[in-house]
Amino acid sequence: MKPRKITANIHWLGALDWNRRLFDALIPLPDGTSYNAYLVQGSEKTALLDTVDPATTETLMAQLADISRLDLVISHHAEQDHSGALPAVLQKYPDARLLCTPKAKTMLMDLLAIAEDRIATVEDGQTLSLGDKTLKFIYTPWVHWPETMVTYLEEDRILFSCDFFGSHLATTDLYANEGRVYEPAKRYYAEIMMPFHGAIKGNLDKLQDYQIDLIAPSHGPLYRRPAFILDAYRDWVAAPPKNIVVLPYASMHGSTEAMVTHLIAALVEHGVAVEPFNLAVTDIGKLAMALVDAATIVVGTPTVMVHPHPLVVYAAYLANALRPKARYVTMIGSYGWGTKAAETLTGMLPNLKVEIIDPVICKGFPRDQDLAALDELARTIAAKHRENNFT
Ligand code: FEO
Repeated sequence: MKPRKITANIHWLGALDWNRRLFDALIPLPDGTSYNAYLVQGSEKTALLDTVDPATTETLMAQLADISRLDLVISHHAEQDHSGALPAVLQKYPDARLLCTPKAKTMLMDLLAIAEDRIATVEDGQTLSLGDKTLKFIYTPWVHWPETMVTYLEEDRILFSCDFFGSHLATTDLYANEGRVYEPAKRYYAEIMMPFHGAIKGNLDKLQDYQIDLIAPSHGPLYRRPAFILDAYRDWVAAPPKNIVVLPYASMHGSTEAMVTHLIAALVEHGVAVEPFNLAVTDIGKLAMALVDAATIVVGTPTVMVHPHPLVVYAAYLANALRPKARYVTMIGSYGWGTKAAETLTGMLPNLKVEIIDPVICKGFPRDQDLAALDELARTIAAKHRENNFT
């Protein structure tokens, strides 16, 4: 794809990765992704903001074919999906200077073997003139690594935000269709940003005094109505959890599944929404999205070799790493002859600031007393949600 004009002398460059289905050998990408770079041509200097994933370097270099001179290359984030083509760009433009935060400098040297004398660091709040355009660099750590920053283009009021506000969405829409992008943006927040929600709140506060007409992230479409994504982020980061139970589970011979089915019905009777995820078939990104809002996590697991099912161990590890804002956690499940599954699971969630509700464990297939215990669990959860006015 050729460069796409945003405003006079500002162009989108980059690549649409329609067929990529996994990021970091971990994160599902049902909608593909994009790697956005931006070319800002001032009256005196030209800057390239970020590059692309190394697999799409040729695409970026073709877009730069008619650009005879680059003065500056801005690296907002050292992760390779944005920095991967830096070596090729720096080779093509031997006089260009690479600008980044001090932490990014070390990372770029470590990850990409970029020579130290090609890199200069910028300070938080520093401005740099391209002639008739002024770049202001704003440190925004942990979106999504510790070295990240964004750039505010003062005259055009454009925020180049890199991962911040991004979405894994390959689309020919240069600008966001809000109904289309909401879910990919939330999925992106859940999978990439949620572990750092405290730092993100600080970064949102830091940006609130800037007049922003356009947000240009490095994944997914651009936001011509910045309030759309800024308000969404404030909701995901800081709004109270909602009256929702997220219920990841595995079942081997149907006993835990029967408990899950009964608990879902009981919770619904008490006015609590439930989002169940059978971990044998689920898209782990959908589970991550559900964790953004849920007030309670109920984990359903059979016992395997005394401990939780491995799929549940994986989901618990992810939930602990993602640090959702849930307030309550409990467990349901079945065992054959002995179990420490509940103790194991509880010990796997040290990052969560939650109250642990007593688990419901049954031996074999659930019987009347087990179903009654699940009814009581549903009542307890509903009461806790009401006490907190979770809606
Ligand atoms: Fe899109 Fe953290 O890289």
